[in-house]
Amino acid sequence: METKNQLKQLFQEKYGYIPHYEFFAPGRVNLIGEHIDYNGGLVMPCAISMGTWLCIGKNDDNVIKLSSVNFDDAVEVPLQRSFEKTGPEWFNYPLGVINELQQSVDWQCKGLDLLFYGNIPIGSGLSSSASIEVVTAFALNQIYNLGIDKLSLVKLCKKVENHFIGVNSGIMDQFAVAFGEKDSAIILNCDTLKHKIIACDLGDYSLAIINTNKKRTLADSKYNQLVAECQEALTYLQQEINLNHLCELTAEKFALHQHLIKDETALKRATHVVKENDRVVSAAKMLAQGDLTNFGKLMYASHQSLKELYEVSGKELDTIVEFCIGYEHVIGARMTGAGFGGCAIALLQKGWEEDFAKYLSEYYFNEMGYYATIYVEEIGDGPKVINTH
Ligand code: GLA
Repeated sequence: METKNQLKQLFQEKYGYIPHYEFFAPGRVNLIGEHIDYNGGLVMPCAISMGTWLCIGKNDDNVIKLSSVNFDDAVEVPLQRSFEKTGPEWFNYPLGVINELQQSVDWQCKGLDLLFYGNIPIGSGLSSSASIEVVTAFALNQIYNLGIDKLSLVKLCKKVENHFIGVNSGIMDQFAVAFGEKDSAIILNCDTLKHKIIACDLGDYSLAIINTNKKRTLADSKYNQLVAECQEALTYLQQEINLNHLCELTAEKFALHQHLIKDETALKRATHVVKENDRVVSAAKMLAQGDLTNFGKLMYASHQSLKELYEVSGKELDTIVEFCIGYEHVIGARMTGAGFGGCAIALLQKGWEEDFAKYLSEYYFNEMGYYATIYVEEIGDGPKVINTH
């Protein structure tokens, strides 16, 4: 039996009673629009069927007990007015959510027993951290009738990432996890936070996810540095033009002002950002018209820009995309998420899944000396209550 279906039983073995509640939140992939959420741009993520399951019960011990099927380190934290991050461990994410909820609404956490299980490969760019944040926030909001709307929950989880965990990430991951809908993509304007849910009909193609199996955490990556480099580009531009975000510029307008950016690295970053934003606009049109061939071309262009201008790809992701370019039954591929390893996605013609997996595995192994993992994923739903007892 799959672990997710055994979680209730595992909870009972651990805590001695049947959990009072069971919840789920998905992970996400981003189809296109990378590293532009923190520049006020457009992104196109969707939720996937992999995710995080959470069983919860109330205890009278005045402690929060956090444990996970995926990790050995469980903790018991006494109730207190505010919590602090301790080390890099997984439980900082749910603890950060509890902390943020206590600070932002009139609520004090009571004794709780929590057991998590996730089947999103950790550190792979599929938002395992946003998934655990959102499932915790969503669950506590429901259990204690906190009345927080979904967008506010998303913002709260982003705050956890930014202030508690210390990564200056944008809002895309938490938004995608919370607002994802089956077989649909989200087009999110990260400046206004207006979004549209669009049908993601891939026709004769499936969405393949290829994990490089090169793990990384954003906290120790150069993610924050990239955010700062974009800010630097913006500051140069603001000396002469009125602008809040890089993505307010179209590629044409950017061409008129790019000479203002005096730092070469900042200029490269800004060039990616502006053009990637335009690509999302085109990609949305192509998806709506069912023009997957041109959608795929934009994916390749996005990858190239992330490799050359944003410099967040790397040998592992490039090896996968190179293979895809030469493989007849893939029409587009790119890295997804922050980069530095993690996952790539590919539009793969249906019926070729086994062949693709076989030849890509060999190719990747020959180049890297270890294997990639290949999944054919469904676009899944957002967070939900599975059961209450
Ligand atoms: C990570 C961050 C997101 C986004 C992507 C890159 O997933 O959490 O906010 O910046 O990287 O697009």
